[in-house]
Amino acid sequence: MHAYVLEPSARRPTLAPRPDPSPGPGQVRVRAEALSIHPVDLETAQGGNAMLLPMARPFVPGVDFVGVVEGLGAGVEGLSPGDRVYGYRGIAAQGAFAERLVVPREELARAPEGMTPAALACLPLPGLCALQALDEAGLQAPGRILVHGGAGGVGGVAVQVFARRGHHVIATAGPADLDRVRQLGAAEVIDYTAARFEDAAHDLDLVFDTVGGETLARSPATLRPGGTLVSLRAMPAVADARAAGLRVPWFMAMVLPLVGMGARRKARSAGVRLVGQVTTPSGARLEALTALARPRPLETRIDRTFPFAELPAAMDHAASGKARGRVVVTLG
Ligand SMILES: NC(=O)c1ccc[n+]([C@@H]2O[C@H](COP(=O)([O-])OP(=O)(O)OC[C@H]3O[C@@H](n4cnc5c(N)ncnc54)[C@H](OP(=O)(O)O)[C@@H]3O)[C@@H](O)[C@H]2O)c1
Repeated sequence: MHAYVLEPSARRPTLAPRPDPSPGPGQVRVRAEALSIHPVDLETAQGGNAMLLPMARPFVPGVDFVGVVEGLGAGVEGLSPGDRVYGYRGIAAQGAFAERLVVPREELARAPEGMTPAALACLPLPGLCALQALDEAGLQAPGRILVHGGAGGVGGVAVQVFARRGHHVIATAGPADLDRVRQLGAAEVIDYTAARFEDAAHDLDLVFDTVGGETLARSPATLRPGGTLVSLRAMPAVADARAAGLRVPWFMAMVLPLVGMGARRKARSAGVRLVGQVTTPSGARLEALTALARPRPLETRIDRTFPFAELPAAMDHAASGKARGRVVVTLG
């Protein structure tokens, strides 16, 4: 089989032959049908998070995939050869840019029906971000949630997940995306180029932030006391990063809390909790995502699909800033 490999100091992955992986106990071998390119994949190729990764180059990058079960290791239950599954490899493992991959059973779920492999490949990481945020906020009963970046690859899925769970969703987006975000399930939309979100959103139980910076800094004021601000752009706690398998050297363990201190102080003085999310693989949350895609499939926005042989060009396109939606790579 073939996989893309990031060689030392390379900024793009190159295709290389690899031995066919065989599943060990508790593992599943998947023949990939599609994968998506996330901002984190571009960052990894550029060496942006190299210091935190537990593995040295060369390694196979990539996080989100969908494919068909081909082989089961000892003790695997609940899946059969031929089942379509999807998953997120996690930033500390990666390995999704491959024709075949071996994945722990507990990180996989049966994919929703009625969606193409390309559309399914856009779901795992965004769905996990949203469902993990609900758990981080301890939000079971319907609440009020603000999604920053509601038209983005993560935000668009999050709006649907929260709305389908019965929450009142308010979402920020640019003027061209307001109607689409409303159609995804947002009860209220705010044009971030024309209005200050804190004038329209208040008493929130959860702010789900995919934007960061000033947007993150202004968000604590919109939460009720005791509410939770989950940000994909805030520094994670050292313990969370290590629990997710990232390598946090001692000097970074000293620096990380300082980098996030301003935002954390603001959150504390507003009486709210700030979580810098490190998204972790979870088959159980993916099962929940699959349930939410029934009977009406979840909507994803695909900018363009490329064949596997053109994955580096797909990454260039995703990095160009011109893509309106996810860039997807299909196999077979
Ligand atoms: N911590 C983690 O584990 C984790 C996991 C997943 C993603 N992330 C990070 O989360 C971020 C978002 O990922 P993505 O895949 O959703 O990116 P994306 O598809 O590029 O979407 C970003 C969205 O944010 C919108 N936006 C930009 N500025 C805004 C503002 N001031 N207010 C509201 N919306 C604004 C953009 O709208 P326009 O088109 O109008 O510019 C776009 O729709 C990335 O930085 C990614 O690295 C982190």
